[in-house]
This record gives sequence, C-alpha cells and structure tokens, in this order.
Amino acid sequence: MSKLDNTFGQQTVSQDERSKKIRRVFQLVASRYDLMNDFMSFGTHRIWKHFFVNYISFKSTDIIVDLAGGTGDIARKLAKKGANVIVVDPSIEMMQAGKQANSQQVLNIASIGERLPFADSSVDKLTISFGIRNMTSMSDALDEIHRVLKPGGEYYCLEFSRPMMPIRPFYNLYNQYIIPRLGALVAGQPEAYQYLIESIKRFPHQEEMKSLIEQAGFSKVIYRNLFFGIACIHTGINKH
Ligand SMILES: C[S@@+](CC[C@H](N)C(=O)[O-])C[C@H]1O[C@@H](n2cnc3c(N)ncnc32)[C@H](O)[C@@H]1O
Repeated sequence: MSKLDNTFGQQTVSQDERSKKIRRVFQLVASRYDLMNDFMSFGTHRIWKHFFVNYISFKSTDIIVDLAGGTGDIARKLAKKGANVIVVDPSIEMMQAGKQANSQQVLNIASIGERLPFADSSVDKLTISFGIRNMTSMSDALDEIHRVLKPGGEYYCLEFSRPMMPIRPFYNLYNQYIIPRLGALVAGQPEAYQYLIESIKRFPHQEEMKSLIEQAGFSKVIYRNLFFGIACIHTGINKH
C-alpha cells in the first residue's frame, strides 16, 4: 500500500471514504477544471501535456486507454494524431465537461483504475496524466494496468513529482498559499484545491515511483523530469 492510499489531505481515512471524497472533489471542480489548470500552472500544463503526447509512439491500429482521462485533454491530443482512444474515468461530470470538444475517436467509459473494464492483455498503450495520485489504491491500479496491457504494451504516466532543490521551497510556498486561494477565487472550491495540493505533497518522488512501477511487473522503467522535476514522465514496458 502506498503512503497515499489511506489519506485525504491531512486526514487518515478508510479507502472507501478516500474514494468518495476524491469523487466529490472532481464533481465540484469539473466545470472549471481546465480553466483552473491554466491559472495554477500559468499554462505550463499545456506544454507538459504536449510533450507527453509527443513522447507516446503508437500505430493507427493500437488501442490506447487514457486512464483518469477526465475532460479528455490527452485523449483529444492523441486523437488529433490519429489514435483511437478510450477514456476511463469514474467522474461522469469530468467526462461530460469535455465531451463537446472530443471527437468520435474518443470513447468515454465510467470506471475506476483499480478495476479496469478490459480483458487481460488487451490494451496496447495505457496513458495516465495527473491521475495516478488520485487512485484509491495506487498499487491496485498499477496491478490492473499491468494486467490489461499486452506483453510489450507500454505504460506512460505524467504526474507532479519532487522538484529539484533550488526551486523546491518556492514551489512549496506557491502550492501552500497561492493555489488554495486561486481555487477559491476561480473555481469557488478552496477545499478541493487544498486536497490536490496535499496529494501532490505526499506523492512518491521520482525514484520511489519508479520502484512502485517495477514492483507491479514493468521492465525498462525510466523517467524524465519536466521543469526541474515539478512534473515527471515515467514509462515502463509490460514484460508479463
Ligand atoms: C487531476 S484529474 C486529471 C485529468 C486529465 N487526465 C488531465 O490530465 O487533465 C484526475 C482525474 O482522476 C480521476 N479519478 C479519480 N479517482 C480515480 C480512480 N480511482 N480511477 C480512475 N480515475 C480516477 C478523476 O475523476 C479526475 O478526472
């Protein structure tokens, strides 16, 4: 079990409670989610996502699952490059918020990462962007991802991580004081953004994340820092 699995913000909670509370956070922020991302990151999330999508190599016949796909930001970008993408996310509100912008190449399925609605070894690539830290159980989700990916299938994860030392204190101050205020101002939901910040703070750093992915059975796990490690892309291959 990861150190995040039984927490919600600074509270210790049951996994069931954690799952309900996270569901509620995304229900509350759905309509302003994309706008808030722009405010909070000064638009840099777009650069990270652009970089992430270009990192993913695929054939036109590949089945790509974008887990925790939310409003479909990654799925849309992949579809523009010719991919067929299935967004999996438990939040109908988040998927609904992005629906109009999505093309027919994007299919939405309401489900959780800890119980994926796919057969064993049936998926070519699985992407997850700013989603893995919201899983109720990260280790269960990684096991599921490993189960559904074909042998040789690839896992791509974009997530916040631990920034390098010179900028870490400034980043922490920004997260602690500015983001909840922005959350209140723009989205009217300071508590929801407080949760998001806590989940970033407690999230495993680059090397810890790498070993969690390896423990789930992936090989050739590597990571690449973005913006001095504020965000990070981890990739792994399903060795089966
Ligand atoms: C921060 S958003 C990321 C959305 C999108 N991938 C992006 O990069 O903008 C996190 C998403 O994780 C979803 N989520 C929360 N718990 C989940 C779970 N157990 N399984 C799958 N997705 C989950 C939320 O509904 C939300 O849409």
